[in-house]
Amino acid sequence: MPVPFADLQLQYHAIKAEIDGAVANVIRDSAFIRGPYVDAFEREFAAAVDAKHCVSCANGTDALYLAMAALKVKPGDEVITTAHSWISTSAMITHAGATPVFCDTDGSTFTIDPAAIEAAITPRTVGIIPVHLYGQPADMDAIMGIANRHRLWVIEDCAQAHLARYKGRQVGTFGSAATYSFYPGKNLGAMGDAGAVVTGDAVLAEHMTTLARHGGLVKHQHQIEGINSRLDGLQAAILSAKLPHLAAWTRARQEAAKVYDSGLNQIEDVVVPEIAPDRTHVYHLYTIRHPRRDELVKHLSANGIQTAVNYPTALPFLAAYSRFKHRPEQFPNAYADQRSIVSLPMFAEITQEQQEEVVNLIRKL
Ligand SMILES: Cc1ncc(COP(=O)(O)O)c(C=O)c1O
Repeated sequence: MPVPFADLQLQYHAIKAEIDGAVANVIRDSAFIRGPYVDAFEREFAAAVDAKHCVSCANGTDALYLAMAALKVKPGDEVITTAHSWISTSAMITHAGATPVFCDTDGSTFTIDPAAIEAAITPRTVGIIPVHLYGQPADMDAIMGIANRHRLWVIEDCAQAHLARYKGRQVGTFGSAATYSFYPGKNLGAMGDAGAVVTGDAVLAEHMTTLARHGGLVKHQHQIEGINSRLDGLQAAILSAKLPHLAAWTRARQEAAKVYDSGLNQIEDVVVPEIAPDRTHVYHLYTIRHPRRDELVKHLSANGIQTAVNYPTALPFLAAYSRFKHRPEQFPNAYADQRSIVSLPMFAEITQEQQEEVVNLIRKL
């Protein structure tokens, strides 16, 4: 039985009438750029993630840029982030004008190690970007404690963590701002690129909106030099149609994770995702560690099971960062993980039979 890594068709067909209706409304109203559908989604998403303000934009990468530009990052500044993420997190630090400083992960949760943050702070450090990787929150109490002691801002990268909670509180509500991606495969996904920044700070929200709209809130009155980063009306309406289902889809992912956990826990070589106490994982990805990862990927692929490696090279070791001459011993956990991690098929509609097939094939190896 082949098992896909994710299946966007199943989700679409389950709510086809709602999606098709939303798209038809936007076309009927020619509300393609900004307008009521974008405004409505911003309101609804802010409410869903317990944020005061939501500034929508073109994608999760721009969201990171907008947040840092609004926080007035400048050349010479250093921004601390995790060694284990998608390149957007660190690339936008550079594009905003600062220097990325990487910290190792904690060895269990795939998120940034607070002790490593403390050691990486210099007089040039201005902020920290923790990433709630795969859907598990980073250690926000420890991170906010460090940030407050050193007067640093925090931007939470929530691209993979819609509705995740830390000690009962939603991610994205701890720092100065939090960024989201609605890339189609994300837990809340558009039908194209889409993103947002949320914040509790009205001044920051207005600054990010200004930056995202060519530097002006009124046509032809450009207060600053901005960029063009817009969520379009079609994506906004699609996201509004999907948002009421997000909590149920998240619970389905969490149930599926339990099925994997109980099957895989009995297999000696497999390390299932470790969840720190008081954190709610939303399983954007279900990522295991296996000492013979490449062999496992080949074996599953030969049997029709799609997997993914997120990510095969930890950020410090990418060619894009060769200028820093990073060494493996600086990031032992991220370095070890890049050779052992593999993400298994995970989506809200995955069946128990499909999961049993995956588990049985792993057991066979
Ligand atoms: C952790 C992380 N940060 C940022 C992004 C960037 O989001 P987007 O693809 O919408 O630009 C992604 C998505 O790929 C991500 O996974």
